[in-house]
Amino acid sequence: MNKRILLIVGGGIAAYKCLELVRRARDKGIAVRCVMSEAAQQFVTPLSFASLSGDTVYTDLFSLNEESEIGHIRLSREADLIVVAPATADLMAKLANGMADSLAGAVLLATDKPVLMAPAMNPRMWAHPATRRNATQLAADGVHFVGPNSGEMAESNEAGEGRMAEPAEILAAIEGLLSGDKPLAGKRMIVTSGPTHEPIDPVRYLANRSSGKQGHAIAAAAAAAGAEVTLVSGPVSIADPAGVHVIHVETAREMLAAVEECLPADIAVCAAAVADWRPDSEGAQKMKKDGDKAAPGLTLVENPDILLTLARHHTLRPTLVVGFAAETETVIDHAKAKLARKGCDLIVANDVSHETGIMGGDRNRVHLVSSQGVESWDDMDKAAVAARLVSRISELLSTSHKSD
Ligand code: C5P
Repeated sequence: MNKRILLIVGGGIAAYKCLELVRRARDKGIAVRCVMSEAAQQFVTPLSFASLSGDTVYTDLFSLNEESEIGHIRLSREADLIVVAPATADLMAKLANGMADSLAGAVLLATDKPVLMAPAMNPRMWAHPATRRNATQLAADGVHFVGPNSGEMAESNEAGEGRMAEPAEILAAIEGLLSGDKPLAGKRMIVTSGPTHEPIDPVRYLANRSSGKQGHAIAAAAAAAGAEVTLVSGPVSIADPAGVHVIHVETAREMLAAVEECLPADIAVCAAAVADWRPDSEGAQKMKKDGDKAAPGLTLVENPDILLTLARHHTLRPTLVVGFAAETETVIDHAKAKLARKGCDLIVANDVSHETGIMGGDRNRVHLVSSQGVESWDDMDKAAVAARLVSRISELLSTSHKSD
């Protein structure tokens, strides 16, 4: 790939991971030039980035040397893509508000090239209303995002959303943006994601452990591939992906209604962990313990099957319908049975036994089951599964059009 990125390294402990990003990008033939913020230099030295990038590292807006060699305007224009990693709360705030009081800020404001941010910060900073506002503003301005992921924070004993995406994920996002390839341009896609909550009474509900990470990653990857994506999400604690229309729902019946509203569509990916059953009626008031009365029994009724409804739709069946099979045993056999029973084109099967750590985790190991057979993929992060699945979906869509 004969391309160049400008990497703006922000001041966070995740800056050290960007050394690996530089190395991996160069392995792929992508030239890297670095700008480091003042704070970034407290974590990693410019010399490390200079050695790995094989280029000068730029640090100062007012340096006569640097300006005489190459000004901030040229720096920002000579790259095909600007990558900000780690994108600190401060750098996000600067760009969201158009501040150019540093080299990084000036470069970001002066560029006419796409910008990709890999945020990294403490979970409370990421969740702060100011950062939420800035992220929404940046997404509306066309900035692309990769991550952040959830997990342990390096600098404190805290965990939560705010860890920078891994170098491999950032590189996949870079390659996607640099290739300019939009295989799903003009396609309408519905993605369901997350769990559903089925109310028992006004304060209690039935739910499951789905985090929505895989479904949200698929929606983001499809949008990056040019699809017009509607994500119908159950209650999750992760952020809405950028560039995607999101409908938030609670129950399976609301999810079905939202999905049906989105038809017609070319592709449907049902990644939600829809509750199979719901209580037959929702108590109007909170159920009370009542002295010596026995515990109340719950009578369950079956929820509508969204995947099956789409795959067997008489008039508006999407061209490609993809389901998931989260199993804890005999994964592939169950997936084959599900493919036939639901009438979909592809099942993405995974083992969600507790010991795999897949449910709620950042990695996944999937098997693709279709009428053509079974294809097992290596363990990879959910963003990588999403990117690969989206490219497989576009292949399948182009072959299905050829055979029309
Ligand atoms: O039947 P089971 O829940 O195992 O099937 C899983 C697949 O079916 C997933 O793709 C899930 O999103 C979808 N599904 C659905 N509506 C349901 C149950 C499952 O769309 N009520």
